[in-house]
Amino acid sequence: MNAPALQGLEINAPDYVKHPRLLAWVADMVALCKPDRVFWCDGSQEEYDRLCQQLVDAGTFKKLNPAKRPRSYLAWSDPSDVARVEDRTFICSEKKEDAGPTNNWMTPTEMRATLQPLFDGCMRGRTMYVVPFSMGPLGSHIAHIGVELTDSAYVAVNQRLMTRMGRAVYDVLGVEGDFVPCMHTVGAPLQPGEQDKPWPCNPTTKYIVHYPETREIWSYGSGYGGNALLGKKCLALRIASVMGRDQGWLAEHMLILGVTSPEGKKYHVAAAFPSACGKTNFSMLVPPPAFQGWKVTTIGDDIAWIKPHADGKMYAINPEAGYFGVAPGTNHLTNPNCLASLHQDVIFTNVALTDDGDVWWEGLEKDTGALPAHLLDWQGKDWTPEDGKAGRKAAHPNSRFTVAATNNPALDPQWDDPAGVPIDAFIFGGRRSTTVPLVTEARNWMEGVYMAATMGSETTAAAFGAQGVVRRDPFAMLPFCGYNMSDYFQHWLDMEHKLERMGHTLPNIFCVNWFRKNAEGQFVWPGYGENMRVLKWMIDRIEGRGQGHETMFGIAPQYAEINWQGLDFTPAQFEAVTHIDKAAWTEEFKLHAELFGMLAYHLPKELLATKAAMEQHLAAA
Ligand code: GTP
Ligand code: SPV
Ligand code: MN
Repeated sequence: MNAPALQGLEINAPDYVKHPRLLAWVADMVALCKPDRVFWCDGSQEEYDRLCQQLVDAGTFKKLNPAKRPRSYLAWSDPSDVARVEDRTFICSEKKEDAGPTNNWMTPTEMRATLQPLFDGCMRGRTMYVVPFSMGPLGSHIAHIGVELTDSAYVAVNQRLMTRMGRAVYDVLGVEGDFVPCMHTVGAPLQPGEQDKPWPCNPTTKYIVHYPETREIWSYGSGYGGNALLGKKCLALRIASVMGRDQGWLAEHMLILGVTSPEGKKYHVAAAFPSACGKTNFSMLVPPPAFQGWKVTTIGDDIAWIKPHADGKMYAINPEAGYFGVAPGTNHLTNPNCLASLHQDVIFTNVALTDDGDVWWEGLEKDTGALPAHLLDWQGKDWTPEDGKAGRKAAHPNSRFTVAATNNPALDPQWDDPAGVPIDAFIFGGRRSTTVPLVTEARNWMEGVYMAATMGSETTAAAFGAQGVVRRDPFAMLPFCGYNMSDYFQHWLDMEHKLERMGHTLPNIFCVNWFRKNAEGQFVWPGYGENMRVLKWMIDRIEGRGQGHETMFGIAPQYAEINWQGLDFTPAQFEAVTHIDKAAWTEEFKLHAELFGMLAYHLPKELLATKAAMEQHLAAA
């Protein structure tokens, strides 16, 4: 029997929570959502273990074989709830222009009226977890605090791995500190006596809503990833990008890595690739043997908050404390550091289960040389190599692992430094099987912003919808910019002048594409660890070495400027990954024009001028 729903102010707050506004908000939300209980998360290991056991008992988690994968769990989601839902994601600014043409929009008043009846009683029969978290090191002046109210224990335990979550957050908040209120429900209230599902969610109604002016997040109907772990895309990108616009900093969909030369000189780069396009891979890169003495270390794998500093540099922090990474394709060849991070204390979602209680996903056969004879796939159905041959995947293409950053053997010693790391270069890269070359360097900030703004990418399983379709994904921020994309471009352009006024050295900007394919559909660039060869060329450019050669789309490396030691890669192959095809680019510029047409309101004029200059250059080539 369910206990009667909590009345009004019975929120049972622990006495260490001394923030009247927070307490009043929780009381209001309890009155609205009508959970049976309120559970205040303290973030302890004991609590984590207890909640995980509870999830095992509820059938949400399977505990993996402790001999193979200590303290690790596997969750299979509802098949309707496997990725971010971009068409259900809203930026509810007062004015439509402030959300811009790339975001779904409704007025706050209309959206509040829509959500009110959905949230009314949405947690009946469930527990409301109060999850306090810090994005960025606790107490750092760069960090921001969020409090997520959720009826999902899965969210609570994931947040403990992904953020600095727990009691210490209340010490930072004190009695009147600022926090972003994050409301989350799976949207599946239980009738008295009703049996819960292993993965409750609302199969028909989902809303991921942001109010940028009041800095609130309301998420309804999904328990998965960026839809539900509200510190990540909702707070650290959509809301934070608005804060950054207002306060003069950047919130970006970027990995941050450190790269140290054999002489001990360290560089830091931040790279924006769209979802499932290699950020985790690049941030944990293991250099090939030819780069003996070089070392790559991870600061972050998904999000960067970047602020100009008085010393003339831009400093970046990773607001997260863990990785929610794509499992398929991860193996000892593609990402050994990642695999080493996954030995213990991991939550897996939607990968396959082996007969001996371990996990499996497509790509691991490259390590073992064979497919497992039998698995349970991500929907719990029997799977054999025959099913694989028929094209049925054992793991969902967007299956993921959640793991604390401290599990990563390549973790940068400064990953948790509240001051952040100074950025030497920005890299932008889409997933394009044609047209965009392996690497070019922007001749100036403007050209770099152009490259980033016009980035295209073939869509991946990270978002619900068609896959492999090329769409524009400016700065890899299309689904994550919390305001008008044209204003966002302007913010980036303004940054140059701001930095120059402060006497800053501007980071170099590069454009990459690891994903070119030949006529047979095979990748023509080996990628992964071999991307070190491109990274090294970038460092040479930062150091002012090498001539490069001028192209219409920035400065490209000459064949001889890349270290090919240990890799059989001919000048003809190099031509195949770097060639700028006149016909393809003529078509490409039409797509840029289409993008700029859509973004015409507030579009910085300089982008059009840059386009015209590039087209002229192309015509003359
Ligand atoms: P989100 O977490 O969704 O933001 O994505 P991410 O950018 O961190 O993606 P991740 O690094 O997990 O990329 C996963 C996909 O990219 C897998 O399919 C990888 O095999 C593929 N990938 C990563 N690096 C390379 C590369 O250098 N070459 C090729 N061909 N594929 C790559
Ligand atoms: C992405 O889609 O870019 C992710 C995964 O990083 S999620 O957190 O689900 O958005
Ligand atoms: Mn991402």
